[in-house]
Amino acid sequence: MKKVLLLGSRGYLGSYLVKYAPKDITLIVSARDKEHYIGKFEFLELDITNREQVIKEIAKLKPYVVINAAANALPDLAEEKKEWTYSVNVTGVSNIIEGCKKSNSKLIHISTDYVFSGEKGNYTEEDVTKPVNYYGETKLEAEKLVKSSGLKYLICRTSVLYGLKLDYQRRVLFYEVYDKLKENKDVIVQETQIASPTLVDDLALCIYKMLDFEKSGIYHTSSSNPVSRYEYAIKLAEIFNLDKKLIKPVQMVKKTAVRPLNTSLNTSKVQKDFKVKFRTIEDGLKFIKEQIVL
Ligand SMILES: NC(=O)c1ccc[n+]([C@@H]2O[C@H](COP(=O)([O-])OP(=O)(O)OC[C@H]3O[C@@H](n4cnc5c(N)ncnc54)[C@H](OP(=O)(O)O)[C@@H]3O)[C@@H](O)[C@H]2O)c1
Repeated sequence: MKKVLLLGSRGYLGSYLVKYAPKDITLIVSARDKEHYIGKFEFLELDITNREQVIKEIAKLKPYVVINAAANALPDLAEEKKEWTYSVNVTGVSNIIEGCKKSNSKLIHISTDYVFSGEKGNYTEEDVTKPVNYYGETKLEAEKLVKSSGLKYLICRTSVLYGLKLDYQRRVLFYEVYDKLKENKDVIVQETQIASPTLVDDLALCIYKMLDFEKSGIYHTSSSNPVSRYEYAIKLAEIFNLDKKLIKPVQMVKKTAVRPLNTSLNTSKVQKDFKVKFRTIEDGLKFIKEQIVL
């Protein structure tokens, strides 16, 4: 069976990659420590910033594919903790690349729509990158390392993940809106910020569909429906029968990191090459509704 090493298994996407692991692979899950891990898969304690250990462990395991879902994925924290963010998002990736080289493993690296400036929207894989915040800069630098590594690689750029969360996970877009509406509190949303919110389940399933890739490249792996934060919140209220009037659109929500305005992604390439389709916001929200305990 093909060995797949998953880095960042305790993160939001990582947890879903564990959940949806296909039966025909041997998954090795990895995180910095074993806290919260109660799964059935082999576990590897690994800090991706520890170069020696990363190279040694990957070389020992010789995985068919390494999936890197580990990162500092929080733009505001990235501005506050630049050195640490760089060590995880860039140096960590450089370490993983060296490990993959030693073991001749393929690499699937997760990246972001925040490599774009947000001036245009509907970005294709060929469009010019120009991050507007530090998080985006580090993710772009990592992409460049992966592209020039000589490895067989995929870079999967995604956009605002949403879905059900586990208890210990950080807040995600869905709950930022849902929890407030449930408590009859106002929800302030930036109507000028547009992206391609992606059901985390769909991204996990897509990544597993891509495992046997032959040709290296960048793919936009997100939903194909650009929506503003405001439109997302309205759709959520409609589907969950919550009060839309509580949703207050504003031009700008001030945050530590500058946000690119329209980073919606064009997903034609992944649809064509891997025959995957991501759910629309409406279908994604209905899918959550079916599972949520109301
Ligand atoms: N979430 C989004 O909306 C979004 C949007 C676009 C792109 N992405 C990209 O998608 C990927 C996954 O994001 P996510 O939302 O799942 O992030 P997340 O929930 O914050 O998870 C990231 C994981 O990385 C781990 N990590 C951090 N530093 C590490 C280190 N030194 N060694 C090993 N593991 C380390 C964290 O471990 P601990 O649990 O120990 O802290 C955490 O489990 C990232 O590449 C991100 O840039 C996410």
